[in-house]
Amino acid sequence: MNLRNTMGWEKYLKPFLYKELPPTTGWSAILGTLCALTFIIMAVTGMVLAFYYVPDPDKAWESVKFITEEVALGKIVRGLHHWGAGAMVFLVFCHLMVSYLHGSYAAPRQITWITGACLFLVVLGLGFTGYLLPWDMKAYWATIVGANMPNQFPGGGTITRFILGGQNISGFTLTRFYSVHTLVLPACLLLFMAVHIYLIRVHNISDPRERLAGEALPPYTGKPYRFYPEHTNRSSLGFGILFLLLLLLAALFIPHMEEQAGTFIADYLPRPEWYYMWLFQLLTFFTGSWEIIGTLLIFAGGLALLFGVPFFSESKLKGMGNRPVSVAVASTFALCIVYLTVMAYAGVAPYNKTVLVPSRPLTAEENRGLQLYVDQQCSYCHNILGQGGHQTGPDMSNMVRKKRSPEYLANYIKDPQSQMKSTTMPKYVLTDGQLKDLAAFLLSLDFRGGIEPVERNCSDVLEEAKKTAGK
Ligand code: HEC
Repeated sequence: MNLRNTMGWEKYLKPFLYKELPPTTGWSAILGTLCALTFIIMAVTGMVLAFYYVPDPDKAWESVKFITEEVALGKIVRGLHHWGAGAMVFLVFCHLMVSYLHGSYAAPRQITWITGACLFLVVLGLGFTGYLLPWDMKAYWATIVGANMPNQFPGGGTITRFILGGQNISGFTLTRFYSVHTLVLPACLLLFMAVHIYLIRVHNISDPRERLAGEALPPYTGKPYRFYPEHTNRSSLGFGILFLLLLLLAALFIPHMEEQAGTFIADYLPRPEWYYMWLFQLLTFFTGSWEIIGTLLIFAGGLALLFGVPFFSESKLKGMGNRPVSVAVASTFALCIVYLTVMAYAGVAPYNKTVLVPSRPLTAEENRGLQLYVDQQCSYCHNILGQGGHQTGPDMSNMVRKKRSPEYLANYIKDPQSQMKSTTMPKYVLTDGQLKDLAAFLLSLDFRGGIEPVERNCSDVLEEAKKTAGK
């Protein structure tokens, strides 16, 4: 048997392996290859994890703990999957930025860009769905916050219900996420990856000398840069370093796991995974009636930008040196993301220091409500005019605009689920009088018609509460 012939060496494999890439191809071209290779790590470690993982709300957390603590090499496999996920998001993002900077999306590579953008979204989706699977507090909250985002829009409730698999986060949410994470999204990823790689093969890697679409390039001269051995060598080196780094991370740092979902921790602060932190921070800038517009704007604008690049950036110039505007845009964008991430971690909105109230004197009832609001740390999840902790729940300055009645508010705080099934706000055990006070305070937060907000110091408010109580 002639193996070379049976495998189609001359006709298919040889041209495939020895394909000539532009001789000016730089190291950044390995980013795409690294994404594909990291996906292999994710697929293999994911398959191993699936042997032991149980997608059941009562057992998921235990099973992840079991994998980490009992299964031979389980810690390493889970670590690789965890850190690999972060690496993959990072690499896909870098690959996207570099392709943008090089102008590689220009004709005839528009579809290559679009499939790349789809891959980026699929990878983010894998991150989001994978996040819930350990079923710990962090996962639970991030999922609720994420899934509730469409809820703000008319008709969005259906989307939220579809994501959660019902009114509420439950076992159905978990099985749904598991199936999407292990079947649906990987299938999409493979499909888009196939088209993406096929198109790169068809149009080759973009060459900085290309200017106008269709203009023939002078033939490559000098030392050739081929897929094999030049590109594969570079990629192997890059991947070797990446893999060692991930192994090291996996060996040294066990992915942090919080308490099992549903554990009641009163002062719990939900946070998304690091690559969503900037978005989390960005969303906190939109308050009041801007809340909905802001969310819509960010998502629609982000998608339009991502998919629109090949259509509204018609620059025919390629190569980073020829594209000062793109470089400026991309660096500003990257800086903003870094800045937002840092801000999110620094927690610039100190939830427990000040609280915004209307400048007019508060009635006695409203004042008692304010004291309760501070004392019960409602600001942990709620903002007032965008100021407070992390926007898990709606902005409290919206209650008048939403025409909430005092009874509704009191009932909501006493037993949130009685008013809204899908809510995740904890119940508060308060007297009817206290509930009335709180409701009055929330309804006093009406900043329309030129009423100015003023800052009140939380410690002063509590001090005052003590004094009145002592009287
Ligand atoms: C652990 C986070 C958390 C804390 C702490 C919290 N809430 Fe909430 N709250 C939420 C969430 C989440 C929602 C809404 C969920 C939704 O819309 O699906 C909500 C909704 C509300 C609503 C209903 C708003 C509306 O438009 O119907 C009111 C009123 C409210 N909270 C008041 C309070 C008060 C008062 C406190 C303090 C005593 C408080 N919350 C503490 C998370 C929290």
